[in-house]
Amino acid sequence: MKNISIDISKTYNFIKQDEIISLQSEITKHHKALFDKTGKGKDFLGWVDLPSSIDEKILSKIQADAKRISKIAELFVVIGIGGSYLGARAVIDALSNPFTGLMSERKHPFIIYAGNNISEDYHAELMELLDKKEYAVAVISKSGTTTEPAIAFRLIKNHCEKKYGKQGAKERIIAITDKAKGALKKLAVNEGYTTYDIPDDVGGRYSVLTPVGLLPIAVAGIDIKKIVIGAVAAEKEIKTSSDINKNPAALYAATRSILYGNGKQLEILANFQPSLQYFTEWWKQLYGESEGKENKGIFPAGVNFTTDLHSMGQYIQDGLRNIFETVISVEKSNKKLIVPIDEDNLDGLNFLAGKGIQEVNKMAELGTMLAHVDGNVPNIKITIPQLNEESIGELIYFFEFACGLSGYLLGVNPFDQPGVEAYKNNMFALLDKPGFEEQSKNIKARLK
Ligand code: PA5
Repeated sequence: MKNISIDISKTYNFIKQDEIISLQSEITKHHKALFDKTGKGKDFLGWVDLPSSIDEKILSKIQADAKRISKIAELFVVIGIGGSYLGARAVIDALSNPFTGLMSERKHPFIIYAGNNISEDYHAELMELLDKKEYAVAVISKSGTTTEPAIAFRLIKNHCEKKYGKQGAKERIIAITDKAKGALKKLAVNEGYTTYDIPDDVGGRYSVLTPVGLLPIAVAGIDIKKIVIGAVAAEKEIKTSSDINKNPAALYAATRSILYGNGKQLEILANFQPSLQYFTEWWKQLYGESEGKENKGIFPAGVNFTTDLHSMGQYIQDGLRNIFETVISVEKSNKKLIVPIDEDNLDGLNFLAGKGIQEVNKMAELGTMLAHVDGNVPNIKITIPQLNEESIGELIYFFEFACGLSGYLLGVNPFDQPGVEAYKNNMFALLDKPGFEEQSKNIKARLK
């Protein structure tokens, strides 16, 4: 693939190449089932050809709305949770200056998030901020009924109407939801908000390339058309061949499947760029919700290096040996910064003087990989040349497709999430939601 290469050579001490190759016929079958939309969860396979079928008109409408919002807002509040939040944040953080929020001269609104938790303090402090700043809002929920974003939206809608009046609020609120059903759709129609539809056949965690992700990303000033170009390229290449030797998504899925079969039940996605922290969060949801069912599945964890080498490094090096590591390696930095010479050299770092920070980071990455392999942690390396729109677009599709393949290899439906309902039912019963009377009695008795 143009922007992605994968190296699994550091798994060969733990699993045999032949084992991986032996999955070829299964991979070919699942590759076909995904593209033909015939496998488990086939009603939610809209993401498979989403990049190449994105309507130019939608992209232009998103860009026009983003431009309009830039003129009226310093902050853009993105209300959503899970798949209605993490994709946007993953891309925005990966491609933005982390200090944007502190810069007084900004070309684009700073993106902040709400409705991804139920913390009173978080939302009260957000209200205090919104008192002082000009803002606009995207409320995002496919079902239109999720409690966390619904509570946040109730608060922010109320604040917005008080601050800007009904008409002003209408100009500042955009709803992204199902095209026909759900409470949010009804509310948006009643209030006359600008709306975007989430396709029926694209589930939350696969929705970053729909308006769910693309609108907030565009408001942040990122070129969404380039992201789509990257994703389209990945779709085309991945579609061309299911051959494990030619298709990196197939190789990744096959390798992690064999590692899992050999007792490596936990996958750690590691990065060496703090801007990828939320990309990892997005990946965790994608794989965790897709594979973790029927009492099986790899547990997806994430670390940000070198930061977490000083906290989790010990465990990875020496703890329980049920883990493997997948590193997203970024070849080149976007900016240049050299370690300066210091006459006194009290810190003893003059041996680094003149070297780029990225070179030091690379050596940390290589050193870590070898140390962890020596500590019996197999390593998969996924390399992109640089952090930019196209490589992120490719990476999104690569991980989505590999996730679909992985779920099928595991024998589960990677496109549902039945387990997510359990906590919601208990919470509703505890909060005396109408219709939950019986559960309410039972659950309260259990807590006595
Ligand atoms: O991937 C998923 O389906 C979930 O994570 C959902 O995205 C999340 O629960 C939010 O749901 P909704 O968009 O309906 O508010």
